[in-house]
Amino acid sequence: MRVTIFGTGYVGLVTGTCLADVGHDVVCVDIDAAKVDGLNNGIVPIFEPGLEPMVKSNHAAGRLRFTTDAGAAIGHGDVVFIAVGTPPDEDGSADLKYVLAVARTIGQHLKRTVVVVDKSTVPVGTADKVRATIKAELATRGESFEFHVVSNPEFLKEGDAVNDCMRPDRIVIGADDAGAVEKLKRLYAPFNRSHERIVVMDVRSAELTKYAANAMLATKISFMNEIANIAERVGADVEMVRQGIGSDPRIGWHFIYPGAGYGGSCFPKDVQALARTAQQHGYSAELLESVEAVNDRQKGHLFELMVRHYGSADALRGKTVAVWGLAFKPNTDDMREASSRTLLPQLWQAGAKVRAYDPEAHDEAQRIFGDRDDLLLCDSAYQALVDVDALVVVTEWKQFRSPDFGRVRDALRDKVVFDGRNLYHPDELEAMGLAYYGIGRGR
Ligand code: UGA
Repeated sequence: MRVTIFGTGYVGLVTGTCLADVGHDVVCVDIDAAKVDGLNNGIVPIFEPGLEPMVKSNHAAGRLRFTTDAGAAIGHGDVVFIAVGTPPDEDGSADLKYVLAVARTIGQHLKRTVVVVDKSTVPVGTADKVRATIKAELATRGESFEFHVVSNPEFLKEGDAVNDCMRPDRIVIGADDAGAVEKLKRLYAPFNRSHERIVVMDVRSAELTKYAANAMLATKISFMNEIANIAERVGADVEMVRQGIGSDPRIGWHFIYPGAGYGGSCFPKDVQALARTAQQHGYSAELLESVEAVNDRQKGHLFELMVRHYGSADALRGKTVAVWGLAFKPNTDDMREASSRTLLPQLWQAGAKVRAYDPEAHDEAQRIFGDRDDLLLCDSAYQALVDVDALVVVTEWKQFRSPDFGRVRDALRDKVVFDGRNLYHPDELEAMGLAYYGIGRGR
């Protein structure tokens, strides 16, 4: 089928590439000419495992093209995806200006019946706004084509996005027209082979499904962080508690890892946006507000542990701290809402210096923090340990999981490790002569 995708960010680029990979004829549109040029030359602007070779091979095969020419692109697709960003507004609600700008563009260029698909995470009711916007543009041209707006939220995880896209656990289609549903079923047929993954529902339920999924996952994390904070105070180890509850299938093993707080472009933004939507409809979403508040507090927890160890924030003045991990999670260079963005400024404020290492996020860190005397981005995890007092682990990259603790101990002047992702065993580190602080490990 012929597909057009607006937006070559994570969602648009991954979706477009995977659709091309199964044989569809895909045109991706972006307003950023430099990005489009780069993509046409095989330069993928994001770090996403497996994506670059797929972009290159499908581009070479002529099934995946990139353009800034919105008019021509709209002429191409039978299905037109909107996959542009929805950044948070000042009050936390999702800002629809990019989504609605694409809707206007579609209305200005549409010449035949198409299915328009909302792929971006958008508040309940957005499909109606997109439909009204396209209709209004058509009306100014004196046209009135039939077209349908469908909600088809994405459930990709950064770092595993290609896999999630090629092997989805569900494909949610929210539509009010049977023909539109059939078209999307055909589009997704190659991803729906071994068992039925497609769930068809009304548009608003599909829009809410996306928020409910992310809010549920964020709630699990904040819940575990709350239990961790209680464990610290009552002399229990949250890692034992986690193992004690995860085997109950009603609770499950996933997303119950306590840590230095959740980040990324989705959970923080979506939890806030859902709470705002509720508020706009006269409902106070107290659980969601708490999920967010617990997470905000959790991002400051590593610094709190350091203050506890050193006796005061003042005692950190003049210290140099090694930081392992800057990205909001492993396998990405994304630092949006990352816990490191809370910790590093706290350390600087206290008068400490930072030597940091992240396998992928140095360019991002440089862009966000700029050049400063109190930050050095190092070439390796061990380089970051040179001439430092303490080590803080912020992101659970695989390569940080079993370092040479003898080397770590010898390098650290203050012989102390703050483990923001509970990667290590307290007993093992203590036996090596290292003081250990994890999350929720009060035992
Ligand atoms: C999330 C969802 O997992 C995807 O299903 C969804 O499609 C996506 O948002 C989206 O809306 O686009 P993502 O933001 O890529 O994906 O990241 P996750 O892997 O979910 O991790 C989010 C944060 O939670 C990370 O900071 C991670 O460190 C933290 N986390 C995760 C925990 O602290 N504990 C856990 O047990 C799991």
